[in-house]
Amino acid sequence: MCGIVGYIGPKGAVPILLEGLRKLEYRGYDSAGIAVIEEQKLLLRKSEGKLGVLEERLKEEKFLGDIGLGHTRWATHGKPSNENAHPHHDCKGKLAIVHNGIIENFQAIKKMLEDEGHSFFSETDTEVIAHLIEKFYQGNLVKAVQKATSKLEGSYAIAVISQDNPDQIVAFRQDSPLILGIGEQELYLASDIPALLPYTRKVIILDDGELAELNRKNYQIFDLQGNILEKEIEEIDWDLEMAEKKGFPHYMLKEIHEQPDVLRQLLTTPLKDDGIDLPELGSILDFQKKIDRIFIVACGTAYHSGLIGKALLEKTTKIPVEVDMASEFRYRSPLVGENSLVILVSQSGETADTLAALRYAREKKAKTLGIVNVQGSTIFREADYTLLIKAGLEIAVASTKAYMNMLAAFNLVALKMGEGEFNGEKLAELLHFLREIPAQAEKTLHKIERPSRQAAEYIKNWDNAFFVGRGLDYSLALEGALKLKEISYIHAEAYAAGELKHGTLALIEEGIPVVALVTQEDLLEKMVSNIQEIRARGGYVLGLTQDKFVSRLEGEVDFLLSIPNTSDFLAPLLGTIPLQMISYYAADLRDCPIDQPRNLAKSVTVE
Ligand code: G6P
Repeated sequence: MCGIVGYIGPKGAVPILLEGLRKLEYRGYDSAGIAVIEEQKLLLRKSEGKLGVLEERLKEEKFLGDIGLGHTRWATHGKPSNENAHPHHDCKGKLAIVHNGIIENFQAIKKMLEDEGHSFFSETDTEVIAHLIEKFYQGNLVKAVQKATSKLEGSYAIAVISQDNPDQIVAFRQDSPLILGIGEQELYLASDIPALLPYTRKVIILDDGELAELNRKNYQIFDLQGNILEKEIEEIDWDLEMAEKKGFPHYMLKEIHEQPDVLRQLLTTPLKDDGIDLPELGSILDFQKKIDRIFIVACGTAYHSGLIGKALLEKTTKIPVEVDMASEFRYRSPLVGENSLVILVSQSGETADTLAALRYAREKKAKTLGIVNVQGSTIFREADYTLLIKAGLEIAVASTKAYMNMLAAFNLVALKMGEGEFNGEKLAELLHFLREIPAQAEKTLHKIERPSRQAAEYIKNWDNAFFVGRGLDYSLALEGALKLKEISYIHAEAYAAGELKHGTLALIEEGIPVVALVTQEDLLEKMVSNIQEIRARGGYVLGLTQDKFVSRLEGEVDFLLSIPNTSDFLAPLLGTIPLQMISYYAADLRDCPIDQPRNLAKSVTVE
């Protein structure tokens, strides 16, 4: 999704803006641009395509301005092009604006401004903001931005500079993240923390309705009424190293390999000898007896973790659990009330639909629990309770280590909330397996790399593939299929294995790859029958199982991968690793841009 950076200080702005934009590339974009003020003159350059194209242009020009804005755009209104790229400017080319989000009432505003004589240069919704500010500008940029934003509907984060105010950046946030970075005698602005990491760890996270004025000596933050706010400076503990590839050819592969470590990071503190210590759940545990329904709401990979979370929570708490895609949730009028617990799962903590679902749940007086990766993100701050999954910075668009820790987090929550339902022995056994899981993940990585690559060699030649499983394995199959689709562009369908014969079996043809997940003991024989149905129709079955079931599956599948033994409850944590690797290698063999797949964005901040 779009990225914003800004700089004001004593140094040349261009290299800082470009470096910041580099750090935001992982979010996905299709064009990029910068604006700087040099000797009281606004200079603006933008290019369709990757950042390199813009960089090449800028090499020849050597801008020296020490205040500027940068942007990477992910097209919403108007195709990717030089004209539609940000920054956008007003009629006179004096002020420049960058924007993330969507202005819902832009058409009405555009019409009004055109009637007043403003000329537009792009098809974007963003451009109306530049002209609105121009309309309201009477020498005070802060006031003009305040007036302009009061007319806008939608979700947006904006930053503005003007050659008439060459010592000022004005920024405003409404439902789209914006962060102020505080350096020595210099200030930064970004829509996402990684852009600030090369320069500062000290940040102020703007809340909705807040306006920031950055000038050469200081900054001020205002609320909607124009009152000055005292906001806390927060210290970010993310490491710049996390934003490096550390010798791996892609971030995705690095992040797959980081999984044992991030599991340790999450599990070590809460796992005690006699149970789980999870103060993050706060009063949810006291309230638990009253909870009549749990909703898990999320998007994409996080949604898939929720499907597994549902199975775990229902087993341990005996409370009915529903899982919703966040984009569907509030439109189906779910029966959420004050006795509901709504769990929002999100790596970024900023996904627009998930955030809207959180706000909906809060309106209905439900208790809300955020399971998120980014400290200080909007969901982190707005949910009643938050469990941080501690996966560290995840850069590849396709989520791997965050998914892993979402699964581990659901295990923690399910076991904690289920403590009363278990006999001591069962709980002790599960805790034992959970304690072992980081080391088992390490073992999995070592043993699975080669067979995963071989499986990918087979799959890479096909345009279609299937992933089948039952129970937890079906939920995991959904994630396996998504991973393959998003990075290798091979069409993949996940099916509940028992459901295939009700239609999809018609698509099984000679040699078609079918990844069959068989990690659950109670479903083993059922899966073997389903595999036989597939093979009888010519499907090429790549089985994935636990070591302890290998002997049962030998001869039943065409290719077999196995993960170390664990509790069936925890098998998805290990089972996801070969699925990630198969997708990774299939994408690599097909020469796909693994970390930034076409059309996708890391953090989807528009609905
Ligand atoms: C995007 C990403 C996915 C991610 C989904 C939800 O589509 O490409 O990888 O699973 O958003 O993101 P979240 O940050 O809410 O987990």
